[in-house]
Amino acid sequence: MLETSTIERLDAVATPFYYYDMSLLRKTVETACQAAERHNIRIHYALKANAEERILRCISSYGAGADCVSGNEVIHAVECGFKAEDIVYAGVGKSDKEIYQAMKLGIGAFNCESLQEIYVINEMARELGTKANVSVRINPDIDAHTHKYVTTGLYENKFGISQHEFDKLIDLVGKCGNINFIGLHFHIGSQITMVDEVFALECARANDIVAYFERNGLKINNINLGGGLGVDYDDPDTNPVPNFELWMDTIDKNIRRRDDQIVHVEPGRSVVANCGTLISRVLFVKSGETKNFLILDAGMNDLIRPALYGAYHRIENISAVMRPFFPSHQAYDIVGPVCESSDVWGAGRLLPLSVRGDLIAIRSTGAYGSVMASRYNMKDLAPAVFSDALDQAPAKKDYFSI
Ligand code: LLP
Repeated sequence: MLETSTIERLDAVATPFYYYDMSLLRKTVETACQAAERHNIRIHYALKANAEERILRCISSYGAGADCVSGNEVIHAVECGFKAEDIVYAGVGKSDKEIYQAMKLGIGAFNCESLQEIYVINEMARELGTKANVSVRINPDIDAHTHKYVTTGLYENKFGISQHEFDKLIDLVGKCGNINFIGLHFHIGSQITMVDEVFALECARANDIVAYFERNGLKINNINLGGGLGVDYDDPDTNPVPNFELWMDTIDKNIRRRDDQIVHVEPGRSVVANCGTLISRVLFVKSGETKNFLILDAGMNDLIRPALYGAYHRIENISAVMRPFFPSHQAYDIVGPVCESSDVWGAGRLLPLSVRGDLIAIRSTGAYGSVMASRYNMKDLAPAVFSDALDQAPAKKDYFSI
């Protein structure tokens, strides 16, 4: 919930923009790191959720590692304070250039997703006269009970190496003289809300698979269980910080590990989602034949989650709370300006009577928001505005005086 004085300051900023509450970010990172320490788990923040430099600098300052999915993310992570040896790099399609760059930087591990990738990494390491740390991403065939677009650990998904190739994998690793085989990697999906059940299942599968590889002569020093902890999109004010303790405790209780085995996780969404809010302005209120439309200046180009996944984000009229009397509520279809019928923020949402110029907050947009933005319709990219640097925000310009 934003304070009135903050809303007043935001009203002077050019919209749309992503507003980041840096004190909530710090509190979230602290909570995550403390839970990790209690349970002896290493955190690698997944840059794909949000790669704003200030956010990354904040997270890296707590000593977390990074999880990257492209060469540019690896380079950016290092530039923003993450140690190269604490970077893990996953992705089904790493290009030769990306592998080369990451190898040169000396990252902690390539999380390899196919036998061919291991072969290519070994060859490149040989040519460079080095050894690359390789961990293998396993497809554990587990249903994460989440949206089908963000479930990643089923055989029908493209990720990881499946069981039928385990023996070939063991054989290949034995022949690759330029890789250090360091462990296994799993990631079964995102926005997982059945935390104890799903992560306990993931651990049980991981235990079996680790045991299989060790029985067959591959020592597993690192067990990376990926990310996926869900956040409360319905009520971000009641639960601004996700339950990292439950997640890590579930892992701690269910993963079988020796003292020389290190457990890693890769949270993305849970670290950054609730600290971000997309702030937009009502351009027009239009009365349709059967409904009222609230037309905003932010669209699917700024945040594609509703259009792509039918994702729910809480929407608030933050100007209405500053009016002397609290106006009655009305149902609106809240839409963006983009030339697509799916450019809808929410259908039939109840908001206080809204007028042109009102500020609208689209909540919990710190994860998979700005990173997935596009310039569709040649729109400008929404800039980032930080709670502790509001004076640097771009000022709203009034084009006329009525
Ligand atoms: N590790 C790997 C290998 C991943 O693929 C992902 C996310 C993560 C970690 C971080 O997962 P998280 O803690 O954020 O759930 N764009 C979608 C989400 C895609 C997630 C992709 N992988 C969305 O907006 O919901």
